Amino acid sequence: MSPTDDPLAWAREYTPVLQSQGDEHEDAEPLSGYTIAVATHMEAVSGCLVEALNRAGAEVLFTASEPQSTHGDVVAYLDDIDGITGFAWEGMTDEEFDDAQHELLEQEPDFILDDGCELISKCHADHPEVAKQVIGGGEQTTAGITRVEAMEEEGVLEFPVYGVNDTPMKHFFDNVHGTGESALVNVSITTNTVITGQTVVVAGYGYCGRGIARKARGLGAQTVVTEVEPRKALQAHMDGHRVMSMGEAAELGDIFITSTGTRDVLRREHFEEMQDGAQLANAGHFDVEIDLDGLEAYADDISEPKDGITRYETPDGRYLNLLANGRLVNLTGPASEGHPAEIIDTTHAMMFVTAYDLITRDHDLGPGLYAIPDRLDRDVAERKLETLDIDIDAVTQAQQEYADDWRNEGSSF
Ligand code: NAI
Repeated sequence: MSPTDDPLAWAREYTPVLQSQGDEHEDAEPLSGYTIAVATHMEAVSGCLVEALNRAGAEVLFTASEPQSTHGDVVAYLDDIDGITGFAWEGMTDEEFDDAQHELLEQEPDFILDDGCELISKCHADHPEVAKQVIGGGEQTTAGITRVEAMEEEGVLEFPVYGVNDTPMKHFFDNVHGTGESALVNVSITTNTVITGQTVVVAGYGYCGRGIARKARGLGAQTVVTEVEPRKALQAHMDGHRVMSMGEAAELGDIFITSTGTRDVLRREHFEEMQDGAQLANAGHFDVEIDLDGLEAYADDISEPKDGITRYETPDGRYLNLLANGRLVNLTGPASEGHPAEIIDTTHAMMFVTAYDLITRDHDLGPGLYAIPDRLDRDVAERKLETLDIDIDAVTQAQQEYADDWRNEGSSF
C-alpha cells in the first residue's frame, strides 16, 4: 500500500507506544462489546489511536474536536475499516461540527475520550439519557479539565472522568514540547519569516507557554512573558524572560503567541499599541484568546496577503497579521499537522490506558474527575523508554531501606 492509500503509514512508524498497545491487545480484544467515542483533532496520529482502540476490540466512533483541523484522507481511510465510523470531514463549518457531534452521541457510546470537553458537555446538556449510561471518559486538555471540574462542582457530571492532561506523561511532553515546537514552526512556515532576532511575546506561562518561550529563546528570539498568576510570573522571570503586562508588551512584540486557556488576552487596547507588521497567533484555546470581533471592528480594511494570514489595516495605517484565523496555529494553519507524532504518541497512549483501565477494571467509581493512577502513567513511560532503547537504574534494596528508615536506625551519623 502506498502512503497515499494509507495516510496512517508514516504516523504508525512514529507512534511505537500506541502500536505496542494495539499489538498487546489485538488477540484478546478486551474492549470488545464496547463503543468508544473519540473526539480529537482528526489527523494521522489521532488515526493511530482510533486504530489501536479498534485493534483492542472496541467499536470506535470518532469526531473532530475543532472543525478546521480534520484531514479528509485520514477520515476516509478510517471510515473504511470495520467497526470504525467517522463523524467529521475536512472543511466542516462550526455548525456542521456541532451537528456531527450530536449525531455521534445519538449512537449512544459507552465511553468518551474527549479533547476540550466538547463531547462530554454536549452529552450532558443535550443527551442526558446517553450521559446516564456512559461508563466513563477521559479528557486530554487543560481547558477541557477546567470544564469537567465546573460540571463536577455544579453536581451535573454523570460518570467518572480521568484527567489525562494532568498526568506527567501528557503535560510534560505534549504541552511543553509539542505545543512549544509546533506553534513556533507553524508561525515561521505560515509567515515565511524567521523567529531569530524577533521579540516574541508569550501570553501565559503554564506548560505550553513555558515550552513556547524556552524554544523561542533557543531559536534566538528575545522573549517577553505576560501572566496573571504571580508565581508563574516569577518563574518566567527566574527562567530569564522579561515579564510585564500586555499593556507594556503590546508595543514591543514582533510576534505574539497566546497560550492561556482564556478569552480576549489580546484586545483592542493592545491592537492600538502594536507595531506595524506584528504577527498574532493563538496556541491556547479555540479561537477566543485573540478578540477577533474587536480586531475586525478596529480595522479599516481586511485582506489575505498569504494563505493562513489575515491582514487587518488599522485606522493609522499599520498592518496587524492574524495567523490561522486566530485558531490554534499549530493545528489549523495551512501547513499544520499538529504536534509531532512521537509527542502525541504518549498523549494518546494515556487516552488508550484511560479507556482500557476504566472499562476492564472493576473500579466502582462514582461520577467525578479523577487523577489517573500513577501505575498507568509509569506503564506508558516504561513503554516509551523501551521504544527508545533507554535503560534506567532500579532502586536498590539498600536505597529502599534507607528511604523507609524514618527512625534513622541505619544512619551512620
Ligand atoms: P496552564 O494552566 O498550565 O497555563 C495557562 C497559564 O495562563 C497559567 O499560568 C495562567 O495563569 C495563565 N493565564 C491565564 N489567564 C491569563 C491572561 N489573561 N494573561 C496571561 N496569562 C494568563 O495551561 P497549559 O497546559 O499551558 O495550556 C494552555 C492552553 O493551551 C489551554 O487552553 C490548553 O487547552 C491549550 N493547549 C493547546 C495545545 C495546542 O496544541 N495548541 C496543546 C495543549 C494545551
